[in-house]
Amino acid sequence: MTYTMSRQVKIDLWLEKKDKEKEKYPKNKETIKLIILTLLLFCSVCFLFLILHFPFPTEFTASLPRTCHHNFTVYVYDLPNEFNIGLLQNCRHLNIYTNMCPHVSNNGLGQPLHRSGRTSWFATHQFIAEMIFHARVENHPCRTRNPHNADIFYVPFYGGLYASSVFREPNLTKRDELAVRLVDYISDQRWWRRSNGRDHFLAIGRTAWDFMRSSDTDFGANILMQMPRVMNMSVLTVERQPWKGDNHFGIPYPSYFHPYTSAEMVTWQNKMRRVERPNLFSFVGGPRKGLEKAAIRDELIRQCAKSSHCELLKCENGGSRCHDPMTVLGVMARSRFCLQAPGDSFTRRSTFDAILAGCIPVFFSPHTMYTQYMWYLPDDKRSYSVFMDEKNSTQIEQELLRISESEVVQMRETVIDLIPRLTYAHPNATNYDLPDAVDVALEALAKQARAKVMVSF
Ligand SMILES: *[C@@H]1O[C@H](CO)[C@@H](O)[C@H](O)[C@H]1NC(C)=O
Ligand SMILES: *[C@@H]1O[C@H](CO)[C@@H](O)[C@H](O)[C@H]1NC(C)=O
Ligand SMILES: *[C@@H]1O[C@H](CO)[C@@H](O)[C@H](O)[C@H]1NC(C)=O
Ligand SMILES: *[C@@H]1O[C@H](CO)[C@@H](O)[C@H](O)[C@H]1NC(C)=O
Ligand SMILES: *[C@@H]1O[C@H](CO)[C@@H](O)[C@H](O)[C@H]1NC(C)=O
Repeated sequence: MTYTMSRQVKIDLWLEKKDKEKEKYPKNKETIKLIILTLLLFCSVCFLFLILHFPFPTEFTASLPRTCHHNFTVYVYDLPNEFNIGLLQNCRHLNIYTNMCPHVSNNGLGQPLHRSGRTSWFATHQFIAEMIFHARVENHPCRTRNPHNADIFYVPFYGGLYASSVFREPNLTKRDELAVRLVDYISDQRWWRRSNGRDHFLAIGRTAWDFMRSSDTDFGANILMQMPRVMNMSVLTVERQPWKGDNHFGIPYPSYFHPYTSAEMVTWQNKMRRVERPNLFSFVGGPRKGLEKAAIRDELIRQCAKSSHCELLKCENGGSRCHDPMTVLGVMARSRFCLQAPGDSFTRRSTFDAILAGCIPVFFSPHTMYTQYMWYLPDDKRSYSVFMDEKNSTQIEQELLRISESEVVQMRETVIDLIPRLTYAHPNATNYDLPDAVDVALEALAKQARAKVMVSF
């Protein structure tokens, strides 16, 4: 596989057909521009004329509102600002490594990847799911303003942003302060007491480890998820504690695609079905020094570098190409399999980027996906992924070549079918009727809450 070829595939991925045709006839570019401009002008004039003379009901021009297709209602607590949007005022210091200001904009979607017009692509930060979740629930058609008849209660605490802002706080009382205050506040509410918080939930954009401080190593965690009252709630998190987290439920890391309409989603899925995939596999990531669970990374990088069927995007010294969404998705969309090694923790945002790119994930730990996102995945792991243990991971290329072409096609189809459930749709999406990551979570929570009510009767 030559470099130019991979470049072509990449470009082909992001440009619509129209743009490609334009490239073929560069001399006509200006003429086409002129024609389009004239047409646009003409259309706007016609449209204005129509609107002025035949006023439509506003719903028509403003597209369809979403309706609640489910048998549940969710109540959103109106928390004091210090627990969510108040934190954003300090966005420069919310994370000890990065200035979060660009990332918390647009309800947490971050900066749009295209400067002009409405876009569904954003440079979304990996640990920002809590903000997008909040914005999605606020606009959810099954939201109720009346706690009396609510089935589930959402506590929109930006716990992840708070946690990363106090990682270096040596005074533990101070580090835990906001979490403790939140729990005191919420457990004091009338609706909490109705069921001791069992129908209440948090949605957190960082891993559970950041909220489960242990006495032996202190890497900056607070105690939120160890507080007994929080253990009575459901905690949605991008990485659950696989052994102690009975009340933890995995939710997807946000990727870069946040569509406004179902049609955009379907168009994307079709594109990923058709795209050429010259690479058997690829790896996007960097080595991790001194972390036992990431030792496999050095091995993957070695095997990928020496295989002619593998594309390696190595992230070292903050390699900026690794942070460019289109470069990352381009590598994945050119590959049939995407290796997903554990990093600083078991899970990776990269898994969700790979699935978005229609690339079949290859796992080396059951905790990267299988024990995490139960609400979102088919029971049959083999239908959408490959698992390699220490023994068969020494020959990744040979193992992957043993999977037949028809199996690969079938697995990829399953992966592409999963994309809508694992995507955070745009919070202001209108013509969007596919269940997204938030819809799936709310439905599962409501089902659970109903089951608990039954038990307590
Ligand atoms: C919807 O939920 C209510 C109680 O919350 C129940 O009485 C009703 O039967 C449910 N309907 C359906 C179609 O499940
Ligand atoms: C969604 O709409 C609201 C209200 O118009 C606006 O404040 C918000 O910025 C919009 N969100 C995004 C991500 O564009
Ligand atoms: C830690 O912070 C708490 C609350 O702000 C304060 O009362 C306490 O004196 C501090 N402890 C130390 C050792 O500084
Ligand atoms: C958790 O819920 C159970 C059952 O409703 C209750 O008995 C217990 O007191 C609650 N724990 C706390 C810390 O609120
Ligand atoms: C690798 O071995 C594990 C356990 O022995 C097995 O479940 C898995 O299917 C194997 N993977 C491949 C690709 O052969």
